[in-house]
Amino acid sequence: MPDSHQYVLRYFASLIEKEVGIRYKDDQYQLKKRLDDMSQIAGYADCSQFYDFIKNNGLTVQLREMIWNLAGNHETSFFRNKMVFTNTLRSILDTPDYQKMIRPVKIWSAACSSGQEAYSIAIVCAKWQSQQRGRQVNVIASDVSSDMLKKATSGSYSLQELNKDSGLLPEEIREWFDTSDAKTYHAKTALKSRVLFLRQNLLQPLRAAGAHGPFDIIFLRNVLIYFHEAIRKKVTEKVADLLVPNGYLIPGATESLSLDAGNTGLERMSVNGNFIYQKKPETSVL
Ligand SMILES: C[S@@+](CC[C@H](N)C(=O)[O-])C[C@H]1O[C@@H](n2cnc3c(N)ncnc32)[C@H](O)[C@@H]1O
Repeated sequence: MPDSHQYVLRYFASLIEKEVGIRYKDDQYQLKKRLDDMSQIAGYADCSQFYDFIKNNGLTVQLREMIWNLAGNHETSFFRNKMVFTNTLRSILDTPDYQKMIRPVKIWSAACSSGQEAYSIAIVCAKWQSQQRGRQVNVIASDVSSDMLKKATSGSYSLQELNKDSGLLPEEIREWFDTSDAKTYHAKTALKSRVLFLRQNLLQPLRAAGAHGPFDIIFLRNVLIYFHEAIRKKVTEKVADLLVPNGYLIPGATESLSLDAGNTGLERMSVNGNFIYQKKPETSVL
């Protein structure tokens, strides 16, 4: 690869990390693939031309939007790592504090991609609420990508998406989705109205999400892994600030915050074999 090309790749790696936190420095193949997509969509023959445009014109609103939409990996599914929902979340909700809670339980899915995580949370909560009469739950879900949020808000998924990984049970599909062709399934209002989707870049001040907090439970799954350690630590601290005392932060199945939890007041704990974090009461700033 010519030196000039390397320079362009390094420039875009820094730009993407500055905009959304995602670190591509060590993965040139993936970076090149993403940049080729972006250049094509923006109408340039290759990433060098794309680079020249940005250098001459700066980052326009549209190009920033494109980077926020395309820089990330959006892999997700309904009930991804199912036990986190049916076991960990349900166990938390079944503790006496939550069973007796008079105010709404507040839950945030902090990098929700196309919405499957948030709808999975809502389905578990709906079942809990039907057994705990009078309890209220507010679920908010956010992502940096407007494309993902559009899909999440539409609530429309293919059958393949509903069944991906452990997916939804047939009775859950019947209860919560409508379909006219057995190919595309639309979340019913009863499900869609349980989740509020909004845009939040985790690198920026957490105003949009924070306006709905503080939260009892925050799902922060499969996003920190793409960040460099310093950004991971900063994001973890900001997100932990939005937890109520004794609130829970739920990371991805393979993620550990042990190195990042320095100033957060978070304590690692196991709920039926799944590792999550709880905010120690004395360190809460809320
Ligand atoms: C791999 S998906 C994880 C989705 C879901 N949490 C799950 O575990 O199935 C990662 C999501 O993080 C989002 N993301 C990446 N950087 C972000 C940032 N700085 N702020 C908010 N979301 C971000 C991406 O747009 C993507 O939708």
